[in-house]
Amino acid sequence: MRCLIDYEKLIQNLEIVRKRLNRPLTLSEKILYSHADEPDKQSFERGKSYLRLRPDRVAMQDATAQMAVLQFISSGLPKVLCPTTIHCDHLIEAQLGGEKDMQRAKDINKEVYNFLATACAKYSIGFWKPGSGIIHQIILENYAFPGLLLIGTDSHTPNGGGLGGLCIGVGGADAVDVMANMPWEVKCPKVIGVRLLGQLNEWSSPKDIILALAGILTVQGGTGAIIEYFGPGVESISCTGMGTICNMGAEIGATTSIFPYNSRMKEYLNATKREDVAELADKYYNSRMKEYLNATKREDVAKLADKYKDILLIADEGARYDRVISINLSELEPHINGPFTPDRVHMIGQLGKEAVKNGWPTEIRVGLIGSCTNSSYEDMARAASIAQQAIDKGIKAKCEFVVTPGSNQIRATIERDGVADKLRAIGGVLLANACGPCIGQWDRKDVKNNEKNTIVCSYNRNFPGRNDGNPLTHAFVTSPELVTAMVLAGDLHFNPLTDSLTAADGSKFKLQSPHGDTLPANGFDAGVDNYQEPPQDGSSLVVDVDPKSDRLQLLEPFQSWDGQDLTDMPILMKIKGKCTTDHISPAGVWLKYRGHLDNISNNMLIGAINEENGEANNIQNTMTNQQGKVPDTARYYQSKNIPWVVIGDQNYGEGSSREHAALEPRHLGGRAIIVKSFARIHETNLKKQGLLALTFDNPDDYNKIKPSDRISLIDLKSFAPDKQIECHVKHLNGETETIKLNHTFNEAQIEWFKAGSALNAMRTYFAS
Ligand code: F3S
Repeated sequence: MRCLIDYEKLIQNLEIVRKRLNRPLTLSEKILYSHADEPDKQSFERGKSYLRLRPDRVAMQDATAQMAVLQFISSGLPKVLCPTTIHCDHLIEAQLGGEKDMQRAKDINKEVYNFLATACAKYSIGFWKPGSGIIHQIILENYAFPGLLLIGTDSHTPNGGGLGGLCIGVGGADAVDVMANMPWEVKCPKVIGVRLLGQLNEWSSPKDIILALAGILTVQGGTGAIIEYFGPGVESISCTGMGTICNMGAEIGATTSIFPYNSRMKEYLNATKREDVAELADKYYNSRMKEYLNATKREDVAKLADKYKDILLIADEGARYDRVISINLSELEPHINGPFTPDRVHMIGQLGKEAVKNGWPTEIRVGLIGSCTNSSYEDMARAASIAQQAIDKGIKAKCEFVVTPGSNQIRATIERDGVADKLRAIGGVLLANACGPCIGQWDRKDVKNNEKNTIVCSYNRNFPGRNDGNPLTHAFVTSPELVTAMVLAGDLHFNPLTDSLTAADGSKFKLQSPHGDTLPANGFDAGVDNYQEPPQDGSSLVVDVDPKSDRLQLLEPFQSWDGQDLTDMPILMKIKGKCTTDHISPAGVWLKYRGHLDNISNNMLIGAINEENGEANNIQNTMTNQQGKVPDTARYYQSKNIPWVVIGDQNYGEGSSREHAALEPRHLGGRAIIVKSFARIHETNLKKQGLLALTFDNPDDYNKIKPSDRISLIDLKSFAPDKQIECHVKHLNGETETIKLNHTFNEAQIEWFKAGSALNAMRTYFAS
């Protein structure tokens, strides 16, 4: 199903909204509001109203797609009603390298790939087979365009903002709504403007912009907001570099990130009375994006975008941001962030000392480049320019060095152009075009589990255990060129800007700053065609799910609310500190159960830290007083028909869009998650699965609750938008305290709670 770019329609919608709001709009507002369902009726209040939108496209990766497709099947619809693709990238484990790993993955995941391929053919979904590449790279290469509104079941979907699209990570249940032609709901985001001044040079790279911003905003700073970049510095960044920056907006909790099709240079030049320069500049305005569209054989898209840029694809002059941050790229130093959180910022020259001070191992065991974040042609070419200098001096990487090409097209092109050979020549091993170690799909052999060690990578996320399942792996994130330089020294003390390396002949040499073409001079080599177009009519096809399968399980609807208050609920776990979706539903070995809700529920909350004893996956069953694992304890309560709650800290559910983190507690009998604050996608995911996502009105009330308490949620019959929920906390000594809980449910979402889940509500809607 082709996604048509109907700019005229978007502009008509936008005019309706513009008349009503009567104020300048930011770029992201324009794209969001022009995709509004009934633009004449909705309220458009940033940070307050809920928008009902009509996205142009849906994209899903194979780990999240399984559950989304299972949910779509239970909706009973004959085929998807919005252009949709599925991308096989998450289930391929890195073990021996490219081809061998790919073949092994095809064997191990045969049942799942068959299920997805058949479901795609039946329900009219484009299917990108294993080997095609990483979802976000494929989107950038094939589907993104300026002004696009895309939702994707992966938190790094915002990558497409590098091509001027609003691409937003969601849970699978949201994707099901859109595939079923229901409007997609999202709280109208605030807008944070990031003004880029100066220009990138020498060792600084797009990655440094987002690593610096992570330090400024922290992992929560973008929550509920879209990050909109603008300013003269935009021109020094390639389209794929902008993709890298937008991709990692997920690390600061942003709804998404976007760059303007035209940079703000024109406004700046006009404002400084240099219209003649602006006119000239306009001709080449955002030439990087146009260049990219042309290079990927989408000249028609480039022409259309050019025509509509002023109206739709840049912010209005005078548009207001909720906050503006300025970054001077000319002063930006190379960053390397970590360990354990992407907002722990270090300048490259300071890391060695910091590491010693904190007891982090300074020896680098593995360097990893690529992933959806940094695997463009430019990334690989710049890394290869460092490798070339090492080759010239006869040295190799001092540790393991692995490379993940983002797509078949990138792999074929870097092979053809000799880029891959340079990386191999210093010891690099090319992995499959897939997520691999970025999502814990890494059969790592060089260290034992629980052995303290350090890795450096050009990925986006570095939570404990993310890459190899080992919580003591200290992962640092930086640009691919810096990773390549660091592996030549093998130590965190190395600063390539100032320090020398020793050549094979014993002489000392310093690395020159990296360079590389942003786009291949001879165009892209498309590589092998790994795409399956759905047939015109797939209705006669049968999607089989073996009832005995341990990988796939058809879904049973959750029970609807019985109309009664939820009283005397035990606290399954009171969680201390960071609790990401990786803590709630880890990936790695568990990825294989993403299509089997009961089996994957055995990983529920096993990474979260129990406030009572500081341990993971060791809690007290308050009925039996026995210590046990979290999933086992939840299953015990469930077997006795006892609903339970979880108490959590700040930014609960940060990280990925994985809805298993919401499905699992619901499946095992949870009814409410009460926290200081939520990450956006996870909060919506909980609501979709019929759970009460609640926040303390007074965050200090978190301290009043003991794991042995009982929780009652009162007067749920009058559950309404903007109305607080009364919570009674009964302590072990019989005393009861009353606290107030907030929520962000709107009318429609309250119906999800009552129906038992959003899917139940949808099924009722289609049946009526
Ligand atoms: Fe895959 Fe890692 Fe990106 S898991 S989609 S490469 S963030």
